[in-house]
Amino acid sequence: MNQDTWTAVDHYLNQRLLPADLALEAALKAAEAAGLDPINVAPNQGKLLHLLARLRGARRILEIGTLGGYSTIWLARALPQGGKLVTLEINPKAAEVAKANFVRAGLDKVIELRLAPALDSLKKLAGEETGPFDMVFIDADKPAYPDYLTWSLKLSRPGTLIVLDNMVRKGEIVTSPEGDERVVGARKVYEMLAKEPRLSATGIQTVGVKGYDGFVMALVAG
Ligand code: DHB
Ligand code: MG
Repeated sequence: MNQDTWTAVDHYLNQRLLPADLALEAALKAAEAAGLDPINVAPNQGKLLHLLARLRGARRILEIGTLGGYSTIWLARALPQGGKLVTLEINPKAAEVAKANFVRAGLDKVIELRLAPALDSLKKLAGEETGPFDMVFIDADKPAYPDYLTWSLKLSRPGTLIVLDNMVRKGEIVTSPEGDERVVGARKVYEMLAKEPRLSATGIQTVGVKGYDGFVMALVAG
């Protein structure tokens, strides 16, 4: 098994299970044209997020790390009438691309993008009535994941689903004894999850167009 096979299988799955989608394709093209890192979730992962949001019946969704807004669109499309998604981004160029993508997808009234360091926005959200959120997707700077998890829990209610991207990192969480700061961030999250009685969590390894990685999902007790 190698990357070529994982990529071919992703294409096979996407061709059969994900209808062609002009807004999502345009979002990826705009992100590429603007020179954003192509580190958005894969299409089938985006659809997984969408299905999880629908399963959860999420009316309020929080995303930490917007990038070009690809996963944001998948998530926002899962919202019922009157639902709302808040997405946090630090990079003005990414925010600009994302906002144009939301307009093109007809979702700019549903999605609120907050352009600021995520920790600042999270502290501010904690003092507002915008939350609690029914689902949180954490997909931003990896060293800060432990802090993002702490704030996500503060902004949650019993039954909130918290999903974290990039939690396996090609296996480096076990194969890299020291680990770079991103691996260290992931390991701290696992330690927090192991000790946190309010969260019931699992981790799943993934392969596909983005290589070998994995995600963690945690349900807030209630
Ligand atoms: C990187 C970040 C991501 O969120 C991702 O899904 C893949 C890679 C990165 O920073 O390299
Ligand atoms: Mg990611």
